Amino acid sequence: MKIHIKTYGCQMNERDSEAVGAMLTEAGHTLVAEENAADVLLFNTCSVRDAAERKAKGKIGYMRKLKQHRPDLIIGVMGCMAQRLGDRLLAELPHLDFVLGTGQTHRAPEIIAQIAADRVRLAETAAAPEEIDMLGAHGRNSWSAQIAITRGCNRFCSYCIVPYVRGREVSRSRESILAEARELAAAGVREILLLGQNVAAYGLNGDIRPPTPDHSPFAELLEALNEIPGLERIRYTSPYVSYFNERLISALVRCRKVCHNIHLPLQSGSDRILKAMNRQYTAADYRNKVAELRRAIPELTFSTDVIVGFPGESEDDFRMTRDLMNEVGFEQAYIFKYSPRPGAKSASLEDTVSEEEKLRRNNLLLADLQERIGRKLAGLVGTTQEVLCEGVSSRNIGRWTGRTGTNFVVHFEPDASVRPGALRQVRITRAGGVSLFGELL
Ligand code: 5AD
Ligand code: SF4
Repeated sequence: MKIHIKTYGCQMNERDSEAVGAMLTEAGHTLVAEENAADVLLFNTCSVRDAAERKAKGKIGYMRKLKQHRPDLIIGVMGCMAQRLGDRLLAELPHLDFVLGTGQTHRAPEIIAQIAADRVRLAETAAAPEEIDMLGAHGRNSWSAQIAITRGCNRFCSYCIVPYVRGREVSRSRESILAEARELAAAGVREILLLGQNVAAYGLNGDIRPPTPDHSPFAELLEALNEIPGLERIRYTSPYVSYFNERLISALVRCRKVCHNIHLPLQSGSDRILKAMNRQYTAADYRNKVAELRRAIPELTFSTDVIVGFPGESEDDFRMTRDLMNEVGFEQAYIFKYSPRPGAKSASLEDTVSEEEKLRRNNLLLADLQERIGRKLAGLVGTTQEVLCEGVSSRNIGRWTGRTGTNFVVHFEPDASVRPGALRQVRITRAGGVSLFGELL
């Protein structure tokens, strides 16, 4: 059958869609980019904010018309919204055929075969450790690949639905991760992105207490990956600030291939709000950790996630977030307006900050960010950067794009020998609003 997969949400969902796609291909199906050409439509959904759920439901609702014309069409939902709502989705969307929870994703080929044969409607959402990381279940022909190393989350930040829809934190075995990385490197992959809701907690058996300064299974994993021939770059997202202990920081310094960019979710710069969010650090802890990391690796760049308008966030609390963001000088930031999630702890708190005020705070942080990015980019003009070449620019087919280890996007004119996945030196000649321009050396 021809199968179209549409993905919403985070990189873990992208990874799962890729793995499910590879399993379906293995089972004899073909993946298609066009929804109109498909016999099966599979939506991989997100629940992290209400807007994400509304978007997916709107899209799936719209598919009803398509199904009226083509009653054989099979429509399914997987991912976090599937887990959260389960058979309520079947009731709400009468043209939907199946719902696969996060612990059941690996059963997609079997479920699709069953529905094609019997035309039953199914919701499979039994909690189970996620078993989607089949070794080698990647799409082909790529120089970059994502590897999930932990799944689920034990932290229970009060605003967050993830621990409820992705389950308890589980780390994959080191052997299976290394085997997957070696296989990818042998197939031409040059960059790997390690994924987890809490990657730096890798190997700690779900214990949320930060480990002693000399203990970091994540550091050991990075060191082993750093030795794999063929791999050039190792990225990871997202770590929780408390896990950057001495052991991990010294591994970051030692491992040449581990990129000098950290996505380090802050969420708020106010201790009162951090506490209400059940984040187990203070603004000072965060500030000190960034300083310690910068002392170890001066060129490190940082990106972050911040929530504005958490219940009870006053103008003062917001100002502390804004000040801390400006002080740290994040090179990138994702700013979210607080959205109560039924099931998460904070949903019982009154959503005190109005939509307009959330938007105002959001826009202030965005304006700061834009101004800061402009300055950072301008400061790089005249430098030479090592760039991992990605391919033709989506904006201008005469140019290629690539990325520095510090995660800046660079556009340049290709030469005859440029290849996706190649590492090249680029002299930066000009800064744009969000990216750099340069010349291959
Ligand atoms: N409302 C707004 N933002 C949220 N995030 C998680 N839950 C919520 C919520 N209920 C944000 C956090 C997290 C990112 C992935 O999404 O900032 O780091
Ligand atoms: Fe959600 Fe907090 Fe876990 Fe991140 S660490 S997935 S924000 S509960």
